[in-house]
Formats: sequence, C-alpha cells, structure tokens
Amino acid sequence: MVELKSKDEIEKLKTACDVVREVLEKVEEKIKPGVSTKSIDIFIESIINSRSAIPSFKGYRGYPASSCISLNEVVVHGIPSEEKLKDGDIVSIDVGAYKNGFHGDAARTFCVGDVDNLLKKLVKVTEESFFEGIKYASDKYRLQDISHAIQSHVEKNGFNVIRDYFGHGIGRNLHEEPTIPNFGKPNRGIRLRAGMVLAIEPMVVVGDWNVAVLSDGWTVVTVDRKYAAHYENTVAITSNGPEILTM
Ligand code: CO
Repeated sequence: MVELKSKDEIEKLKTACDVVREVLEKVEEKIKPGVSTKSIDIFIESIINSRSAIPSFKGYRGYPASSCISLNEVVVHGIPSEEKLKDGDIVSIDVGAYKNGFHGDAARTFCVGDVDNLLKKLVKVTEESFFEGIKYASDKYRLQDISHAIQSHVEKNGFNVIRDYFGHGIGRNLHEEPTIPNFGKPNRGIRLRAGMVLAIEPMVVVGDWNVAVLSDGWTVVTVDRKYAAHYENTVAITSNGPEILTM
C-alpha cells in the first residue's frame, strides 16, 4: 500500500529534504581532481550533523558511510574510499538525511575537470530525464507514465536505463512503496495521488544496462564497464502537481 502524507507530515519531510539540498549545493566545491571520496563523505556527514539530522544511509542494511559516491562505471552505491577524483571522471553523489521523523534522498552527477563530450551529454540527459518524468507526477497520471517518460528521453538520446535498480516511495522509511522503474509503458501502474512522496532516480548508462555487484556487497558496476550517471530528487505529489523537495 502506498501511504499518503498529510500536509503536516510533508512539512516535516521538507526539513529533512532541506538538509539534503544544502549538502548537494555545498559539496560542489569539493569536486576537483585530487580529492578523495572519503574526504567528501566526511564533509557531507559534518553538514548533516550540523543540521541536527542523521545520515539515512549509514548503517542501513550495514552500509558503512553517510553517502554513496559512484565514479565512472559505478552506477550506484559506491562506498567512499581513499580513491581520489581525477580529471575526466564523472562522479555521482547520493545523500539521504533523516530529521523530524522523515527521510529526504537525492543525488547529482558531477563532472570532474575536463570531461569527454559524450559523458557530458550522459550527465545532461540523465538530469533532463528526471524532469521529463515529473511532468507526469500528478494525480492525472499513473506510475509508469513517469517511468515511460524517463525511458523515452534516455533512449531517444542513444543511452540506456538500468533495469535492476529503482526509485521508491519515501517518508518515515528510506524505502517505501511504490517501486518506481525507470522504464515502463504509458497508462500502467498505480494511479498517482496527492500526498504520495516519491524518490525518482533515473540511472542511465552509455552502454548496456547489465550490472554486477562487486565483492564488497554494495558497489554496482556496469558489466561492460562503460560509464553511468544518476540523478535523484524527493518529490511530493500535490493537488497542484509535483513539488520537488530536494532542489
Ligand atoms: Co533513493
């Protein structure tokens, strides 16, 4: 069952989403060659703590860090490490914060220094596909209308969407119903309603959509090792259409 949030609950959700937004704004200054992903994670955790929030991901099913930092062929769930950003990388930063009983969740993919034009396009199309998707995040549509819009925009641009990972409802729990595929058919899935809060997160690849999980149990990579991008916001469906809470 998909839980509908009251106005009061959405106000609380916004306080968590505000923290996520602040982190993603401030983290941009750290995106340069030579910076380790671990140091970025420490920076992120310090901002979350300074806002009296808790990192949603730390300890979630044993996840060891406050953010997911996914470089290049890593699609999602990269674990921060001593590895340093280098010129030409693309890096996705995914952050969750828990405050006043609710979670906010969002991700951005950044370019490090001078990045190949195809990868710049990948990052741009991934972001655009989110905005295509939320055109359908209203009570006039069904869940897969969002999915279909994301998939269409991605494939029209020659890229592919990941099939094995999904967006999700969000609220008192980081992951709630519904599951939100980034592929689908128009006019299918549950009817959307005001009060639903969704983390919509296109994961897009240059090559084939097949993925594997590394031996650390978390890091999701493309099997062909071609690069991936990720873009996510927490979105509330209101009677006036979508409201992006983490932007
Ligand atoms: Co998410």
